[in-house]
Amino acid sequence: MGDEIPPPADQLAAVSLGSDGASSSTVQKARFSDRVRIRSILGRPDGGAGLAGQNVRISGWVKTGREQGKGSFAFLEVNDGSCPANLQVMVDASVSDLSKLVATGTCVTVDGCLKKPPEGKGTKQKIELSVQSVIAVGTVDPATYPIPKTKLTLEHLREYPHLRSRTNSIASVIRIRNALAFATHSFFQQEGFVYVHTPIITTSDCEGAGEMFQVTTLINLMEKVERDLIKNPPPSEADIEAAKLIVKERGEAVAQLKAAKASKQEITASVAELTAAKESLAGLLERSKLKPGLAKKDGKIDYSQDFFGRQAFLTVSGQLQAETYACGLSDVYTFGPTFRAENSHTSRHLAEFWMVEPEIAFADLEDDMNCAEAYVKFMCKWLLEKCYDDLEVMARNFDKGCIDRLKLVASTPFERLTYTDAIKLLEEAVAQGKEFENSVEWGIDLASEHERYLTEVKFQKPLIVYNYPKGIKAFYMRLNDDGKTVAAMDVLVPKVGELVGGSQREERIDVIIKRIEEMGLPLEPYEWYLDLRRYGTAKHSGFGLGFERMLLFATGIDNIRDVIPFPRYPGRADL
Ligand code: 4AD
Ligand code: MG
Repeated sequence: MGDEIPPPADQLAAVSLGSDGASSSTVQKARFSDRVRIRSILGRPDGGAGLAGQNVRISGWVKTGREQGKGSFAFLEVNDGSCPANLQVMVDASVSDLSKLVATGTCVTVDGCLKKPPEGKGTKQKIELSVQSVIAVGTVDPATYPIPKTKLTLEHLREYPHLRSRTNSIASVIRIRNALAFATHSFFQQEGFVYVHTPIITTSDCEGAGEMFQVTTLINLMEKVERDLIKNPPPSEADIEAAKLIVKERGEAVAQLKAAKASKQEITASVAELTAAKESLAGLLERSKLKPGLAKKDGKIDYSQDFFGRQAFLTVSGQLQAETYACGLSDVYTFGPTFRAENSHTSRHLAEFWMVEPEIAFADLEDDMNCAEAYVKFMCKWLLEKCYDDLEVMARNFDKGCIDRLKLVASTPFERLTYTDAIKLLEEAVAQGKEFENSVEWGIDLASEHERYLTEVKFQKPLIVYNYPKGIKAFYMRLNDDGKTVAAMDVLVPKVGELVGGSQREERIDVIIKRIEEMGLPLEPYEWYLDLRRYGTAKHSGFGLGFERMLLFATGIDNIRDVIPFPRYPGRADL
């Protein structure tokens, strides 16, 4: 893909249909159902005009419907989610009960003939569908349907995560999200990276920040025991003593029979009774150990009784495990969900978010920055080429500047400056009267307001800040020769702030051990990670791109909860 400005929207929609669908005079059916996607009709360069006269079956949900001509016919705007545009559908009252079709949200499957709409009515449509028969209807009661025609705020729509995919805005966001995922795989595959699935359940804290969700079955176990103990109380001392007595008596009975040289049959029967008594005692002893509460050992929770025999968590990042494969396959990436139990209520944080994490062997910090920049640019160009119609929806509904921002980022080199220089610029801004909530001095972790000032006001384009103080960064980042900074880099973009965080990894065994100890982290859980340095250590680098942050940047939407299908944040995990 070059840097040239993309062609107009209607042509773009056609590009993503494939050349057959764009130029053919017969309409393409969806391969796995009996209907035609609305995109195959309206996404053509001619807006569908060339298909006039063809019979098609379409399915979708009614966006708006209105009865006209005193109820003699109805117009429905139908959308099937394949593109932002609706197909205009005309139904005659002789064909169907119109009152059942017109409510917003109604699902219809109809057969009809594509026709050019009458000229001169100022309509934008190049084609509409004249219905011959209604095949299926999923009705809606407008009195209770939570997503009526009126424009609802994204915040309101969050209350209906199971229905909000029916709205234009969320549908466009999710199509853009899909395109970005495809772009991600395309970019890394094209560059020769291998996709590695890193674990979701892990026993290592990658960031060492202790913000992990714990994965345990101890609580289920505890609840089960407590329920059981209420129904079936544990045996008393007296019960156990009585059971012991029975065992003793039965043991003696067996001994007596043997001494009296009783028949084999008698002895066998007596031994069986003894065995039963022993089993009953063992059962009582086992039950007497059951106690309410979590299993404890030496006053601490006994994780050896947990599902994995040790404490386990949901991953905060696949990086450490990706490193193991980079140090074998050279260039790898992982793309999966990550989880952080930080109590953040900001519009930039989720408790469950997706991260793209390449890990590149034999690469230093500069290679890492080059990769991040190329990848972000690739995604911007991809969207401009393949999702222009959805971007237009975003521009119309949320952020007029989102398309220009993508064009700018796709074509402008990112600014690069050291953390130390970034602090100088912020200090200069403060000296000139700029007010920040968080004070600025060398050593601070840049706050979102600082990052956004630099990228939005100072440079007005993406920038990469690198060589951060070691005190504010993770243990795995490579210590620079100054002994004060590490080879870390963050990509900051307008609208979002931090989009990418990465670093060159510390490959020197002695240095990394010292760093882990300095940070007060235990060495034992990282022994496998240290082995990568003990055996055939390699220079390597990588980064993590917050996938939802990329969506915020691309769409101009303000809140990260609206760019993931099912947002999870403190207090909410619907569905
Ligand atoms: O900067 P972070 O914490 O870096 C890492 O996790 C590294 N292990 C990545 C690596 O080098 N392989 O997170 C990476 C990115 C951030 O820049 C941000 O875009 C996003 O992940 N991110 C979040 N996105 C949504 N909600 C959260 N709570 C996020 N925390 C981080
Ligand atoms: Mg970071």
